[in-house]
Amino acid sequence: MPKDKHHIQSINNEFLRRVEQLQIAPGPSGDDVPEWTTDGIEELPGFFNATADIWDQKFGAEPDDPFYQAVALQIPQTDEPIDILDLGCGTGIQLEFVFTRAPNARVTAIDRAPNMLNQLQSKFADRTEQLKLQQGSLLELTFEHHAYDYAISTLTMHHFLPERKVAIYKKVREALRTTGIYVEGDQAATVEEEKSILYWYDRWIAKLPGGDSAEWNYDITLSPETQSRILREAGFSEVQLTWNCPSKGAVYVAKY
Ligand SMILES: C[S@@+](CC[C@H](N)C(=O)[O-])C[C@H]1O[C@@H](n2cnc3c(N)ncnc32)[C@H](O)[C@@H]1O
Repeated sequence: MPKDKHHIQSINNEFLRRVEQLQIAPGPSGDDVPEWTTDGIEELPGFFNATADIWDQKFGAEPDDPFYQAVALQIPQTDEPIDILDLGCGTGIQLEFVFTRAPNARVTAIDRAPNMLNQLQSKFADRTEQLKLQQGSLLELTFEHHAYDYAISTLTMHHFLPERKVAIYKKVREALRTTGIYVEGDQAATVEEEKSILYWYDRWIAKLPGGDSAEWNYDITLSPETQSRILREAGFSEVQLTWNCPSKGAVYVAKY
């Protein structure tokens, strides 16, 4: 759907209006606090639930989007009913790209925000038999063992601390068949940026209630170096960075 300037402006305003109504924790104190912390931080589950119905209007991707394509490209072009686990599926923007390659894929789509899952369900109303939706946190849920050919995750894992990610990746690896592949697309930071992100996490977010359980909308964006290391630490046999565009993100492919 073509979007005019006026429409984009009104969606941005509506998005901001909803975020302002959420619970906000104040920024850190001290003489050296960076400007980006001054507005405080909004709660994470509320953020996704409150914005789900306008999410695609703000963040929806064009069919030729190179980032989403780079993730989908790892899924074979096939009519077979391959099994895919989608971690933090949101409204299913990444799944739109996946279904163009594997239209008969059977997908277990997981998200903590019920409103995101509702949007995904209406988007793929003609695919209800291919979709199993599961609401809950990736930190707590368990996944069926050796049940999936692919696991994918796009723009979700930056919500978790490195050590929490390792625990999730171990569960993801166990969910894959021994020939299975995990594909992740996410934001990427330089090593210097990562240091600062983790520093402010420790100094600010970790001290808030639920700080270590992804309760606040703080992006723990990692460098490709750290990201590749923790995927290996979780037990994946081969880890490759297949796409890297600093302003858009990075795509990793990890073999069982
Ligand atoms: C930026 S969206 C990305 C959605 C989708 N993968 C895409 O690329 O369009 C991040 C999603 O992660 C979900 N999420 C955040 N924390 C989560 C958690 N602890 N467990 C499960 N899902 C979570 C959010 O609810 C949200 O839908």
